[in-house]
Amino acid sequence: MSRLIRAVIDTGALRHNLQTIRARAAGARVLAVVKANAYGHGLVQTARALPEADAFAVARLEEGIRLREHGVRHPVVLLEGVFTAEQLREAARYELELVVHDALQVHLLEADAAGHRFRLWLKIDTGMNRLGFRAGEFPEALRRLERLPSPPLEVRLMTHLARADDSPAQTREQLARFRQAIRGHLGATSIANSAGVFGETAVGGEWVRPGLALYGASPFADRSAADLKLRPAMTLTTSVIAVRSVPRGETVGYGGTWRAERDSRIAIAAAGYGDGLPWALPNGTPVLVDGRRAPLCGRVSMDMIAVDVTGWGPIEVGTPVVLWGEGLAVEEVARRAGTIAYELLCGVSQRVPLEMR
Ligand SMILES: Cc1ncc(COP(=O)(O)O)c(C=O)c1O
Repeated sequence: MSRLIRAVIDTGALRHNLQTIRARAAGARVLAVVKANAYGHGLVQTARALPEADAFAVARLEEGIRLREHGVRHPVVLLEGVFTAEQLREAARYELELVVHDALQVHLLEADAAGHRFRLWLKIDTGMNRLGFRAGEFPEALRRLERLPSPPLEVRLMTHLARADDSPAQTREQLARFRQAIRGHLGATSIANSAGVFGETAVGGEWVRPGLALYGASPFADRSAADLKLRPAMTLTTSVIAVRSVPRGETVGYGGTWRAERDSRIAIAAAGYGDGLPWALPNGTPVLVDGRRAPLCGRVSMDMIAVDVTGWGPIEVGTPVVLWGEGLAVEEVARRAGTIAYELLCGVSQRVPLEMR
């Protein structure tokens, strides 16, 4: 087995984060969001590592089918629902639950001659302006669902927060719209993503829908995962494959974006944008070489990075290098690349083996 780049997934951290979310969400049930290959952590492996989750949420039908084909028996919710009669049949066959966010989807259910019965999550748009019925359209959509020839097993009500990470005012506004829209209607509700669970505004709801927090990253710019008592689940790790001397004045890598100001020792590590490391990472981005911070020098290549270890003791081929995870928050690396932790985690490429621990 290659000891080069791999994503080590700490299943204990996944379980710890689920417990932390549970404690914070006082009594709410947890719909663990495992879409996009569980944010890069492995869809099936993550679901298997979290048997205590109350249900799993994915974006697409194929993801739900994959969970079923690998024996996951928990309730599984399709966050985007289905878009064709064929998909509706498949969702029924695999006993998936559907988000209904659009009149087309109500129509598909009405036109379903086989009369499949689903648990439905009716989505109300309270300000995200992405998916969902507007408050004024919601009563009619609900009425149509309640009158389906084969009534739903249950209709739950949900909305999604656009700025729970940075705008309590907008969150309060969305909550007010949601409460106003569902007034007088029975049904379990689901509102909070990770930022909704950990934010200052009490969001409530019978179900929470955390993604990022499960994986041990913080959705907030000003609060770390450690502040939220979360532990990183993924450590992206590789090793040194060459060490070289670079004379003062020479440059390293494509484009010559880093020049040695002194005679330098440069470690080359096996990780690049072909693995999901952003090309945009600038000089100075930290990586951990044998547990110590060292700055990136020169551009990220497809398969390699260069790291300045001038003045360090002996660094050898095989010395471990951590790109993010234990000891180096993915949020910090993301900030250096001008992106978000979500994108880095989801972007770990297919050639990177996952190692569940
Ligand atoms: C509808 C819905 N709910 C919950 C989540 C989880 O969000 P987060 O990862 O910020 O917790 C997402 C993620 O994008 C989502 O689209």
